[in-house]
Order: sequence, then structure tokens, then C-alpha cells
Amino acid sequence: MQDNERPAAPPSSGGVDGAPKKVFIKAYGCQMNVYDAERMADALAPEGYAETSEIADADLVILNTCHIREKAAEKVYSELGRVRELKSERAAAGRDTAVVVAGCVAQAEGGEILRRAPAVDLVVGPQSYHRLPELVRQARAARVVDTEFPVEDKFDHLPRASREKMRARGVSAFVTVQEGCDKFCSFCVVPYTRGAESSRPVVKIIADVRALAEAGVREVTLIGQNVNAYHGEGPDGATWSLAKLFAAVADIDGIVRIRYSTSHPRDMDEELIAAHRDLPALAPYLHLPVQSGSDRILAAMNRKHTADEYRDIIARVRSARPDIALSSDFIVGFPGETDADFEETLRLVRDVNFASAFFFKYSARPGTPAAALGDQVSEEAKSERLAELQRLLDAQRFAFNEATVGKTTDILFERAGRHPGQIVGKTPWLQAVQVDAPFSLIGEIAPVTITARGSNSLFGALAETAVAA
Ligand code: 5AD
Ligand code: SF4
Repeated sequence: MQDNERPAAPPSSGGVDGAPKKVFIKAYGCQMNVYDAERMADALAPEGYAETSEIADADLVILNTCHIREKAAEKVYSELGRVRELKSERAAAGRDTAVVVAGCVAQAEGGEILRRAPAVDLVVGPQSYHRLPELVRQARAARVVDTEFPVEDKFDHLPRASREKMRARGVSAFVTVQEGCDKFCSFCVVPYTRGAESSRPVVKIIADVRALAEAGVREVTLIGQNVNAYHGEGPDGATWSLAKLFAAVADIDGIVRIRYSTSHPRDMDEELIAAHRDLPALAPYLHLPVQSGSDRILAAMNRKHTADEYRDIIARVRSARPDIALSSDFIVGFPGETDADFEETLRLVRDVNFASAFFFKYSARPGTPAAALGDQVSEEAKSERLAELQRLLDAQRFAFNEATVGKTTDILFERAGRHPGQIVGKTPWLQAVQVDAPFSLIGEIAPVTITARGSNSLFGALAETAVAA
């Protein structure tokens, strides 16, 4: 689909002195957007685009946007205002800049973005990234909108990053295994922006993970909008579950840790729970959004489970893996939520005890069933509830972190730390730990004794075994 309303945008012809073309990509929102941003950079690399972290240097600016909450979308429009100024400044200096809006705002708003943001040359939805080089070329002639759900699989057409690039991106990598969602929670835009659930075939995922492992990646996070609904085609022709996929990924040389995100309680089946008991590589961490503790609100949200069913899943997960760290998402102020409903959310939080959490004020998203509901909760009540929930969840997080002080656990070292001589890694429970240790340990797992808790990270010292090694 093309929009030819406006005359041609200037070509993205690279630096004035023939220097390589540069692309700046900013990802908003979820991990999938961060991963997609990397794949866009990979798709553009053969076209001669090198990545830059300086937007002012960029011949091509891509905003990979998020539409999940109102604020996320508004942020994109204000950033586009700044990009417009930058584009004129660069134009005054004789340098062209092409501007791309990708991601879920692109999918949801389409041509509306061209109307609201004159600097934008190309609007491209999440299913068309493999066509990015071609679309960027087309956008030189006329502004383009591509928000189709193409029949071909973009993953079949996206080039893999070079080994050097994979290595530079670090020892922990995301891999998309599933996309889209069929759950249709009444507040959520994802089923509309990302489309129906689809799972990548096992052999393709394994090939991606193998390439990452060969480049030095040690931890993979398998991601999907509803990842535990994974049901991909296996090499044997049968449909594989996420648990079965984990086992195959764990067999790949070099992969020592597996994580996954994000899950729905309804898809937390026995096989997946058992994997937490049986598969040592599967990290003892589960992000399982519950959104609310009130059955009335859960029903209005179309979550398809009750608060007690959630408690029951947690009990089963904990009996399979007693040290598991639990994390969740919460929405306060869903239409019709009373003080009593909110109390039920607090009660569920007290019952479960979370190691970490994300919490949001409900925001009505255009086109979702909940947006049409009356009985919207006042901004004031939402703010009060959010603050109260945050106090409780922060206290639980601090207590969880406090409880790891004194323990010795395996840390996967990821990068340089805050201070010289420090490197930082993660515990199996996804806590960041700053450790005085040599750079040569980056990419390795070593036992560390946690010595102290800061507000956001932990501090630790290499355990004797590591020093001796
Ligand atoms: N308002 C507030 N929070 C939302 N989320 C999704 N849609 C909305 C909305 N309309 C939150 C949910 C979800 C997380 C990714 O974002 O908690 O799990
Ligand atoms: Fe949105 Fe619900 Fe699907 Fe999660 S499960 S992506 S909240 S519709």
C-alpha cells in the first residue's frame, strides 16, 4: 500500500563525503521490539548501513514503536517532533535523512502517522521488516505505508547477523519463537497489532540458537507475545510444545541458561511446569502476568482464569521448583474496578510474594473492547492504587534480594560494571550483580557469593572455587 499524497522524500544517500550510510534505531516497549530492532539492523547491513547510537549522525532514523499503553504512543509523536527538527538541521547542512516508523504504532495508526508527522517517509508494520531495504528505497520516491500481514514468513527472508555482530551484542540474546496472540484480553491491542498466534518451526529456532552459541552467546531468552502457547512444527513433523523446545535448546553446546517471556496463565501446562523441575538449564524464573486479583475484573478483562486458579498454578510451579522467582504484570484502574477489587489484587500479591513486577495504570486503547466500557476509574484513584501496589511490590522485591545476600550462586557475566575493575552478571533469578573480577570472565559462569544489596543491583565476590580456577 502506498501513500502518494506528498512529493518525494529526499533519498538517503549517505554522508556528503561518501562515508558509509548510518542508521539509528530506537526500540520502545517490549523485548520483542528490541529483538526486532536488531533484526532490522541485520536486514540493512547488506545495504551498507552501519549502526550508530548518535541520532544526529544518522542518514536513516528508525523508531520501533510500542502501542501497548497511551503514553508509549504519545512518546513516539513527541520524539517525531524532535526528529523533524533534526531532519531540517541536517537538510540545511546538505545531508538527507530518511525517517521510518516501525512497530505497533505503525501497525495501528498506519497512514495517520504521515498526516500527524510530516518528517516521516515510511511506516512499516512488524510483519514486513524483511522488506525494509526495498521499502526504504521506495520511500525515496514517495512516502510509503506497509502494514500488511504478508503470506510469506519474514524470518525466512531476514538475514542473520554476522558473527562479529552477534558477539558484540553480548552473551545473552533474545530469540523470537512465537508471535501474535489469540487471547484477546479486553484491554490489549496486541492481537490487533501483532496478529494471530504463530510459532516458528523448531529447526529454524535451533539453527538460530546454534549460530548464537557459536558466536559466544551463553543464555537465550525465547520470546513471544504469548510464548507458552508455543506449538511449532518439530523436525519429526509433530507439533512441539515449549517444554520440548527447551530440551532441544538445552542440548546445544554452549547454551547454559534458558529463559522465556511472556506467558499466559492458561497456557501454563503440566509439561511446562515439569520442565522447571527437570531441566537444569531452565532458569528458576517465571514472568506470569496476572493483571488483577479480583475475579470480577479478571472476567471483565477476558483473562479466562480466576485469582485462585492463578494461585494454584503458582503453588504447582513452586512445588516443581521451590526456589523459583516469580514476576508479574498488573493493571490498576481497569473500568469498574472498586476499592474492594483493588484489595483483592493486594491480597493476591501478599499471597504469592513476587520477586519483581511491572505495574501500570489502565489506559483505554482505541479499538479494544474495554475502551468502550463506561465506569472509567478516576486518574486520582488510579494514581493512589498504583502507589500502594508499588509500595507492596517494592517491599517484596527488596525482601527477595535481601534473602539472596550470603548465598553463593552461579553468575553469568555479561559486561563491564559500573566502576573500573567491576563486571556485572546475572543470578539465575535475573538479579544484576556487580563483582570485582577480571574482564576475561565476561561470557563465563562462575560462582559468586552475594555480599550486599543495593537499591537496584546486588554486590558479590567471586567464590573461592572461581579464584582458584
Ligand atoms: N493499559 C494498561 N496496561 C496495559 N497492558 C497491556 N494493555 C494495557 C492497557 N491498555 C500491560 C499489561 C500487559 C503488559 C505488557 O502491559 O499488564 O501484561
Ligand atoms: Fe495482550 Fe492478553 Fe495477549 Fe497478553 S495475553 S498479549 S495481555 S491479549
